[in-house]
Amino acid sequence: MAKHPSAFIFDLDGVITDTAEFHYLAWKQLADGLGVTIDREFNEQLKGISRMDSLEKIVALDPALGGLSADEKERLATEKNEHYIKLIAEVTPAHILPGMESLLKDIQAHGIKIALGSASKNAKMVLEQLELTDYFDYIVDAAQVSKGKPDPETFTTAADYFGFAYADCIGVEDAEAGVEALKRAGMFAVGVGLSLSEADYIVADTGTLHFDSVITHYNERSDS
Ligand code: BG6
Ligand code: MG
Repeated sequence: MAKHPSAFIFDLDGVITDTAEFHYLAWKQLADGLGVTIDREFNEQLKGISRMDSLEKIVALDPALGGLSADEKERLATEKNEHYIKLIAEVTPAHILPGMESLLKDIQAHGIKIALGSASKNAKMVLEQLELTDYFDYIVDAAQVSKGKPDPETFTTAADYFGFAYADCIGVEDAEAGVEALKRAGMFAVGVGLSLSEADYIVADTGTLHFDSVITHYNERSDS
């Protein structure tokens, strides 16, 4: 019989809902105001990492911004969040990515714990707007960790809460930094996005992410 994991730990932005796009649009708006050009390719580096780490990467694109003080950086990070909050104000359950609610239902029906492992300080609010909070047995967001992704702390904090071995947890991520965090934690990494070559199992998008196929691949890895 196929072995089931003890828990699934989900990233939020870009996995459960397409807020990854809103983060990009908010950063682009801020960068435009600073006279810095960013594109979607550059944005791949911003996925999964904290607000301030993202700002540091944008600032590093222009030597003229090298002298910004910590206070100025705080102000810019706050300004980006204001753009983002405006964009997500309209988020509703219609913004849940294809297949994700039925995947959560399937996991729950098998008695497997579900956790969120997000780098976002807005995670709880977004989950509420999506009306998905009740599926989650535990939520780890930016407020609970001292080291963001690619450090494993976000994911190990969730597993530690339940007292589960890391190898018995499956994580789902859309960002390179998130996949790295899962691998460093010793968890089985599901990558949503074909470029996530370090993941243990890769799907093109959430519409092709199904409980049975994740379990099959998890068992193939466990058997080897
Ligand atoms: C992650 C996103 O989930 O959260 C990143 O992938 C974002 O793009 C990070 O920068 C922090 O989010 P927030 O809402 O705290 O600014
Ligand atoms: Mg993400």
